[in-house]
Amino acid sequence: MIIGVPKEIKNNENRVGLTPAGVAELRKHGHSLLVQAGAGEGSGFADSEYEQAGAVTLPTIADVYGQAEMIIKVKEPIAEEYPLIKENQLLFTYFHFASGEELTHAMIERKAICLAYETVELPSRALPLLIPMSEVAGRMAPQEGAKYLEKPLKGRGILLGGVPGVKPAHVLVLGGGIVGTQAAKVAAGLGAQVTIMDISLNRLRELDDFMPKNVQTVYSNEYNIREAIKTADLVVGAVLIPGAKAPHLITRDMLKTMRPGTVLVDVAVDQGGCIETCKPTTHENPTFIIDDVVHYCVANMPGAVPYTSTLALTNATLPYAVQLANLGWQEACRRNAALRLGLNVVHGEVVYKGVAEAWNLPLVEVDSVLEGATV
Ligand SMILES: NC(=O)c1ccc[n+]([C@@H]2O[C@H](COP(=O)([O-])OP(=O)(O)OC[C@H]3O[C@@H](n4cnc5c(N)ncnc54)[C@H](O)[C@@H]3O)[C@@H](O)[C@H]2O)c1
Repeated sequence: MIIGVPKEIKNNENRVGLTPAGVAELRKHGHSLLVQAGAGEGSGFADSEYEQAGAVTLPTIADVYGQAEMIIKVKEPIAEEYPLIKENQLLFTYFHFASGEELTHAMIERKAICLAYETVELPSRALPLLIPMSEVAGRMAPQEGAKYLEKPLKGRGILLGGVPGVKPAHVLVLGGGIVGTQAAKVAAGLGAQVTIMDISLNRLRELDDFMPKNVQTVYSNEYNIREAIKTADLVVGAVLIPGAKAPHLITRDMLKTMRPGTVLVDVAVDQGGCIETCKPTTHENPTFIIDDVVHYCVANMPGAVPYTSTLALTNATLPYAVQLANLGWQEACRRNAALRLGLNVVHGEVVYKGVAEAWNLPLVEVDSVLEGATV
């Protein structure tokens, strides 16, 4: 198969859909790789590394879309890319169709095959192509929190780990899933005193088994949260209720009970945030202050560490890309139920329920498009 890797042109996106290692792996399976010049630059991969791994670099994005049967990228195509997409071309990337009406209609019109990273789903209901970004954001949260706890950045002026003779900071993590677990581990590793809260007792049991001694598990309810925030120096918001807006666990009135300079890192901001006063911010301007409490609410935290994020993402996407390239999308989706759930728009038909419901479009059974596929 001819596989194309365009450079991401969405504002501030520095990740790339395939690394030189991914190129080498796909070459091993006999595929041809076309990489746009400069595609890996933002993540630290030079054109020469792609060429050494067996790719051909092409000067423009139009060259890549024009020749490739499958496009592997990171973000959804933006308007400039729509006219480049060909009928029957397979696009393997994040789409988030349910929040992009124009994009949905554009992909229907282009009659492409849109396989979305975010809806690839294992039988356990885990989302294997979203997990790596949660891991990155989770590990970043205490790092960002530690930075904004510094006095010149308006924080309390406390070092997360303290020093001998001086007690460490208290870090409260709300939610013990992927983000919360990684955040708690990093904060504990830096020497902080960590409290992690969840509403799942089973999850708290698991966490209690493997977390170090400086991590305490506490059941999440309003009473316990109100108590914990009085002494917390850093709060990490990491709750998720699948398919719903995040619950506001810290409300506006609660800010007054916190110490001035406390830092809130609301990772769940992309689902509305679990702190009432959070609103999405950017890497250019990541924080704002309300009631002397510093709010950090960057909605795309992994974007700040494109090297790590690209490797983490492509580690997860590559095995699926290899299957798609080796078998063709139709056979790969027949054999792999997780991958089949990634199909969102195929040959102008919406085949994913959430997308059809979001934009009031007819839903076509995925099996029927698998029957008639030609690529
Ligand atoms: N800002 C970013 O850049 C970024 C990056 C990645 C992920 N995220 C977001 O981070 C959030 C967490 O993602 P995740 O992968 O860790 O999800 P997850 O499903 O693995 O974990 C969520 C946890 O929240 C717990 N929870 C639900 N209600 C709770 C409550 N009332 N109190 C305490 N815990 C509660 C659940 O039991 C679960 O353990 C999501 O909204 C995700 O979209 C943001």
